[in-house]
Amino acid sequence: MSDKRRVLYIATCATPAATQIGTLIELAQQAGWTTCVLVTPNALNFVDVPALEAQTGYPVRCHYRRPDEVSPFPKADGIILAGASFNTLNKWAFGITDTLVLSTVAEAVGLGTPVVLMPFFNNALGVHPAWRQSVETLRGIGVTVLVSPDIYEPHAPGAGDEILKQYPWRLALKAIAEKVP
Ligand SMILES: Cc1cc2nc3c(=O)[nH]c(=O)nc-3n(C[C@H](O)[C@H](O)[C@H](O)COP(=O)(O)O)c2cc1C
Repeated sequence: MSDKRRVLYIATCATPAATQIGTLIELAQQAGWTTCVLVTPNALNFVDVPALEAQTGYPVRCHYRRPDEVSPFPKADGIILAGASFNTLNKWAFGITDTLVLSTVAEAVGLGTPVVLMPFFNNALGVHPAWRQSVETLRGIGVTVLVSPDIYEPHAPGAGDEILKQYPWRLALKAIAEKVP
């Protein structure tokens, strides 16, 4: 039997959920995943990069590498984009790849690498109809989008801190584990 550990990329955006991305890393590591973290440039304000690098043993990636550089990450077996912003969700659905996070998840779909997306935004933003269409578009290309009344729906403005206490990190991990045998 191979003892090769599965590699999980954990990506996040500029939302308060990014401040707790270490929780998902810890759960993933306990489940036997090797973890590598990608953040959007805007998310740098929300994460403690040295702490995440110490936790994962890899650099936190945010920017595109130079053409002559090689990625410091091993190849991904699966990706979780958690704490996904309204912005990144809609950009991905429209095919915009202007961040490393976006190009990584967009390409992953075509490469057959499973991706699970779990958003985090309030229903003031959610009034805009674009996001539901984005969810459908992404589901249509095979992305597992964790949006449903029993998992996560956009929360009330001001309720983010409370929602974060019960943000379903474990369900995101369960969903990716089901896709990566
Ligand atoms: C304190 C703070 C909290 C925010 N919370 C959210 C949020 O919960 N969800 C969201 O979609 N955007 C939130 N935003 C707005 C995003 O940071 C903004 O749309 C940003 O452009 C997203 O960039 P990204 O998608 O590249 O990470 C927040 C911004 C700030 C400053």
